[in-house]
Amino acid sequence: MLVVEDVHKSFGAIKALDGVSLSVEQGTIAGLIGPNGSGKTTLFNIISGFYEKDAGNIRLNGKSIDGLDPFRIARMGLVRTFQVAKAPAKLTILENLLLAAKNQMGEKVLDNFLKPREIFRKEKENLNKALDIAEIIKLKRFKNEYAGNLSGGQKKLLSLGRVLMANPDIFLLDEPTAGVNPVLTLELVDVIVDIRKNLNKTFLIIEHDMNVIWHLCDLVNVLVAGSNLTKGRPEEIQKDERVLEAYLSGSKST
Ligand SMILES: Nc1ncnc2c1ncn2[C@@H]1O[C@H](COP(=O)(O)OP(=O)(O)OP(=O)(O)O)[C@@H](O)[C@H]1O
Ligand SMILES: [Mg+2]
Repeated sequence: MLVVEDVHKSFGAIKALDGVSLSVEQGTIAGLIGPNGSGKTTLFNIISGFYEKDAGNIRLNGKSIDGLDPFRIARMGLVRTFQVAKAPAKLTILENLLLAAKNQMGEKVLDNFLKPREIFRKEKENLNKALDIAEIIKLKRFKNEYAGNLSGGQKKLLSLGRVLMANPDIFLLDEPTAGVNPVLTLELVDVIVDIRKNLNKTFLIIEHDMNVIWHLCDLVNVLVAGSNLTKGRPEEIQKDERVLEAYLSGSKST
């Protein structure tokens, strides 16, 4: 479903990505782990069209997405969350969720005149869906609060809610459980497992919480200093001493 080949990216003298490759099969949950600064978020920024790469190829469902902007890539079925959650502060939780669905539909102004019944039905459907998702992310009782008043962890949850509303084929989640309490983290793991099982969706997840990675992932990719260290099933990665070593030393010396 997603194929990343030999991606390079430098910021001035810093080589953030030095030839990273990975692929994610349809209907699986892939993990992306590695020490701080190993290039995980940079890779997400490149895949989702927020940054330009220096070299490499990326394909989504067999089609090249090289050079496309984030909006186009989202319309093709790939949506990501941000490590530091952003949400329009002056919109309520509910409005934030509804906005995510609207972006996905694409607003056709003419439709408002031509298909008013259909639009009404769709908006009602979106409202019900937004309320269901607000319940899942435990923000239903804050539905009319401004997003700007949420805590860091709650903003993280809202950003997960927004991608759930957008309903992409593949979800890229950047540390979805960072700042979220342990009980709710377990529930979110269940939500992700359910979505994969029932809707056959695909996930690529950056996480520092190894428990979450072991519970969720079919395959784990390990980055160190902008390069692939290894990949494997969680139980293989757990036993791999090079991975532990990479985390202990922070990053590879070059
Ligand atoms: N916009 C940018 N400008 C300059 N340098 C950047 C930029 N984005 C990332 N970098 C650098 O690229 C390297 C990789 O950063 P990145 O954020 O991808 O790491 P990460 O693996 O996501 O780390 P963490 O686990 O801490 O989130 C770091 O050295 C970082 O300082
Ligand atoms: Mg990061």
